[in-house]
Amino acid sequence: MEKIVSLCKRRGFIYPGSDIYGGLANTFDLGPLGVELANNIKKSWWKRFVQDRNDMYGLDGGILMNSKIWEASGHTQGFIDVLVECKKCHHRFRQDEIGNSKSKALISKCPKCGSSELTEPKKFVPMFKTFVGPVEDSSSVAYLRPETAQAIFVNFKNILDSFHPEIPFGIAQVGKAFRNEITLGNFIFRKLEFEQMEIEYFIREKDWKKYFEEWKNEIENWFLGLGVNKKNIHWREHKKEELAHYSKHTEDIEYNFPFGFKELYGLAYRFDFDLKNHSEKSGKDLRYMDLKTNEKFFPHVIEPSFGMERTMLAVLSEAYNEEEIKGEKRVVLRLKPSIAPRKVAVFPLLANKPELIKKARTVYELLKNKFLAAWDERGNIGKRYYAQDEAGTPYCITIDFDSLEKDDVTVRDRDTMKQERIKIDDLVEYISKKLNE
Ligand code: GAP
Repeated sequence: MEKIVSLCKRRGFIYPGSDIYGGLANTFDLGPLGVELANNIKKSWWKRFVQDRNDMYGLDGGILMNSKIWEASGHTQGFIDVLVECKKCHHRFRQDEIGNSKSKALISKCPKCGSSELTEPKKFVPMFKTFVGPVEDSSSVAYLRPETAQAIFVNFKNILDSFHPEIPFGIAQVGKAFRNEITLGNFIFRKLEFEQMEIEYFIREKDWKKYFEEWKNEIENWFLGLGVNKKNIHWREHKKEELAHYSKHTEDIEYNFPFGFKELYGLAYRFDFDLKNHSEKSGKDLRYMDLKTNEKFFPHVIEPSFGMERTMLAVLSEAYNEEEIKGEKRVVLRLKPSIAPRKVAVFPLLANKPELIKKARTVYELLKNKFLAAWDERGNIGKRYYAQDEAGTPYCITIDFDSLEKDDVTVRDRDTMKQERIKIDDLVEYISKKLNE
């Protein structure tokens, strides 16, 4: 894990938040490569679950919403963490930490100093509170959303009225969510501010098991398609006492992170909890009307909920490799080309030869609008390969003296390290084909 954290900082994927001021626990910033990786993950998700399907509607709701929403959704009363403080070292932690991947265990000893002298468990609501307007009183309270899901429920009627979808259908949203997390560590696994990619899939009650199973497959297939080995995932069903206040059945897909199998995504059967409550509390009829049978009812909901940061951490862990080739060590990030932040890097063989730089620049200009490309002329070629391997760039293109005569380049494959000479005229087609393999 330390090696991944260090590579992420060194190569510009992920930086600790507010670093020059000593940091702020559980916050991180995405660097230039991190933003690209995150965008590629979100784009892949959106394409698969919204654009490529006929039964899905996209949404981008607000982070700040009327606080009555969080009362109706049960979050102000039911979304609760149990906080315990160690009397000896004053470390604060959540009492319901996951003991191992198969069960949630209550912690009876301080995870920092091992003391069993703990304060009585204290409940707290991990939602960030703020105030709308100049007066800070109870009527102006607003919360930073702890899940994107509620924007979907409160827009349910809008989507029905605009598009008249037939059940089953889903509404999907990607966006930030905020939680006042007190458990520290494990890098971007648990952040204060993170991105969720969520779907509320509206169904008839009788069909919930069928769609639950369907979504298990959908989730798994998309995630494995990012280049993950199946042996690194499994499903874990929540015990009754673990279920969130809105769920009748939840299963988590767990990934084998460097710190063990832990929750990657959740899949919950939210029955008709949210629509019914919002209907009651808002006074608006949120039932669905089946025009064929004239039946009016609250649809039930299957909710696949994905975390962008956990996806990122999983693909980074999966891709991280250390190798020794002919006595030379290298670190290589074998990211799937479709999500790699940069697809190619272009180098002149020597930085002090203007004719090589000129030619290499034309190649870079040719490629950079088609694939995200990096330019590097620092240090020697070996160091440049090393840097691009660590950044997960699938192909490195070098312009040497032969290139000036023959109008070709060498293309080096990140994974095999094999090099091929390719004519500059054929380069775009060659790289496109390789990236789609
Ligand atoms: N709407 C349902 C919901 O929010 P959840 O299990 O609390 O369910 C869903 O969260 C997913 O969001 C998790 O499986 C995880 O991927 C991600 N997630 C939750 N809390 C997180 C945090 N503090 N930091 C990073 N990701 C988080």
